[in-house]
Amino acid sequence: AIHPVILCGGNGTRLWPLSRKSYPKQFARLMGEESLFQSTLRRVAAQDYALPMIVTGAPVRFIVAEQLAAIQMAAQDVLIEPAGRNTAPAVLAAALRLAKRDANALMLVLPSDHMIPDAEAFRQAVEAAMPRALAGDLVTFGIAPTRAETGYGWLELAAGGKANGDQPQALARFIEKPDLARAKQMLADGNFLWNAGIFLFTAKAILAAYRTHAPQMLDYVQDAVVKAQKAAGFTTLAEDPWSKVEDVSIDYAIMERAGNLAVMPYSGGWSDLGGWNAVWQESGPDGAGNVTSDRATAIDCHDTLLRSETGGVELVGIGLDDFVVVAMNDAVLVARKSDSQRVKEAVTILQAQA
Ligand code: GDD
Ligand code: MG
Repeated sequence: AIHPVILCGGNGTRLWPLSRKSYPKQFARLMGEESLFQSTLRRVAAQDYALPMIVTGAPVRFIVAEQLAAIQMAAQDVLIEPAGRNTAPAVLAAALRLAKRDANALMLVLPSDHMIPDAEAFRQAVEAAMPRALAGDLVTFGIAPTRAETGYGWLELAAGGKANGDQPQALARFIEKPDLARAKQMLADGNFLWNAGIFLFTAKAILAAYRTHAPQMLDYVQDAVVKAQKAAGFTTLAEDPWSKVEDVSIDYAIMERAGNLAVMPYSGGWSDLGGWNAVWQESGPDGAGNVTSDRATAIDCHDTLLRSETGGVELVGIGLDDFVVVAMNDAVLVARKSDSQRVKEAVTILQAQA
């Protein structure tokens, strides 16, 4: 069986004001009737998959429990981090828990902030990648790039690699969040894919990588796992060793350094929904390029997203071009769509004031 490990402890500040520290984007109803977290759970609720392990932060643990229950799903384990330390320690904690039972267990690491419309195509790609992971490689999933995106990891195919193949292949290099000049080069070069943020490996293989590339993190996290407390369906990692753990993503701590990398190209549809621009795009704009929610009306607008997230606020846009307007009960965002990545600046300012 494949063990899904779902990461859902991030803050998602670029989708403020819908995404909040107390209610991050992966739990909000961003697209459709269910949250992205719930869609992620459903994607791996299938034969050949064990119950998921969920790794998240203490402040959102009851949201996790509630959203699991709402779709009648259970978890193998809900691991709670006493404080956010990014994805490297989160994946490590899950690997250590799993390795106790079966060191050869396959882990499928899944972020919970993505849209993957075709679950069947996705599971086929995972299946195709399995032999490579069982052989000890750290398998990434690669998306054909369409722009010089600096917010993603980039995967350089080994010489002779095929960007659109249907089999996993060797990876020459992993480059996390390059600067714009480098991203432009890689896009033009054609020998690169985007890292989807999804990984497949055995517990044994990833633990060996931490032992080599992050030995101190391995010690602290091991200690936090051994001393973890179980209560009310949550496994809370021990605070003292955890507080000493370095705050770093798995991309920087492991993937950029490891030699045994592979990539499974994926072309079944993928979007990161990393900002309002992406949400607008993925929501299927109408003939005039607009996306409007319930209780939102666009008059003579173009390429504009209008979302009323409250129960009772009517939102009307007139004559807007390339705008994002998101109205909540306690906060309203009005921005040029092309500037909408900058809402994280607003979050920084508001946090400083709080
Ligand atoms: N449990 C836990 N704890 N989960 C976390 C934490 C944490 O401290 N921090 C982030 N996460 C979760 C987020 O909720 C998200 O689902 C996932 O881990 C990835 O974190 P992001 O913060 O969204 O990463 P990113 O988008 O900047 O970059 C990653 O994803 C890109 C694709 O979307 C990288 O893997 C890139 O290489 C990749 O291209
Ligand atoms: Mg992300």
